[in-house]
Amino acid sequence: MTTTPDTAAPDAATDAAVDQPELIQSAIREISHIATLPEVTLKIIQLVEDPDSTAQDLNKVISNDPALGARILKVVNSAFYGLPGQIGSINRAIVLLGLNAVKNIAIAASLAKLFRGGKISPNFDARELWTHSIASATATRLLANKAGLGLPDEAFLSGLIHDIGIMVEMQARRNEFVDAVEAASQTGRPLREVEFEKLGATHEQFGMELCKLWKFPASFQNVAGYHHRPLDLPEGSRTLASLVYVADHLTKQLELGYTGDVEGSEIDDKVREGLKLQQKDFDEIVAQLPQAIEEAQAVFAGAV
Ligand SMILES: [Fe+2]
Ligand SMILES: [Fe+2]
Repeated sequence: MTTTPDTAAPDAATDAAVDQPELIQSAIREISHIATLPEVTLKIIQLVEDPDSTAQDLNKVISNDPALGARILKVVNSAFYGLPGQIGSINRAIVLLGLNAVKNIAIAASLAKLFRGGKISPNFDARELWTHSIASATATRLLANKAGLGLPDEAFLSGLIHDIGIMVEMQARRNEFVDAVEAASQTGRPLREVEFEKLGATHEQFGMELCKLWKFPASFQNVAGYHHRPLDLPEGSRTLASLVYVADHLTKQLELGYTGDVEGSEIDDKVREGLKLQQKDFDEIVAQLPQAIEEAQAVFAGAV
């Protein structure tokens, strides 16, 4: 029997969703009016994926949204970014950092407004999830650097979006989500297990579908879909999800924001070895984190 290239494609990112696609899709449809990226951000994603687009095209799109342009320059010129000298224009930022980096910064700068909702139950506050997301993003960036991978913007954005599925649950299935959070914190059972019972799917699955809807690259879909179990991904596509998995644990150790979904306190040795990192690398990052998070927060916390 032959298979079409489509069905033969080893797309691990879709595996987790095949059982309950309709359930997940319908939840996402219900929040599509809330959980959409701003028009300008979607345009930027499309543009960068188009091989014919130029830096000039990107500059034009960003120029139409002065507030976004200002936020991007704030990021680029922050201590967090650490470039020498002041960057005065988007054009210059694109020349120095590249299209892809500016795209990632634009997405990061537009995400904060999606993390709305405040304290909706004794053990969950959307603002705590945003704090956790910034902390994880910063840790993922430091880890990527430590592992010699570079890709600072991609790493940061991965950390920022990894728990986006929780926002889907919170906005589309709030009562069930609150039940799940409270049951998990009262019983100590893993949140994903309780989510599955009460909502029919986990935040990994909801998040992965949202990333698909946003047309994020497969690497980001994998992060949202596998950050609690990166070893379930094929070896060649688990690096970002592994980095975020470690970042998630480090933020739990430091009690940075909402970490009720992080399972256990130990970092799996297999994940650590896959990243070719040592425990002492993690210790160093834990020591650097508070200062780095402060810098990231100064830029992104007010990015609404
Ligand atoms: Fe998570
Ligand atoms: Fe997390």
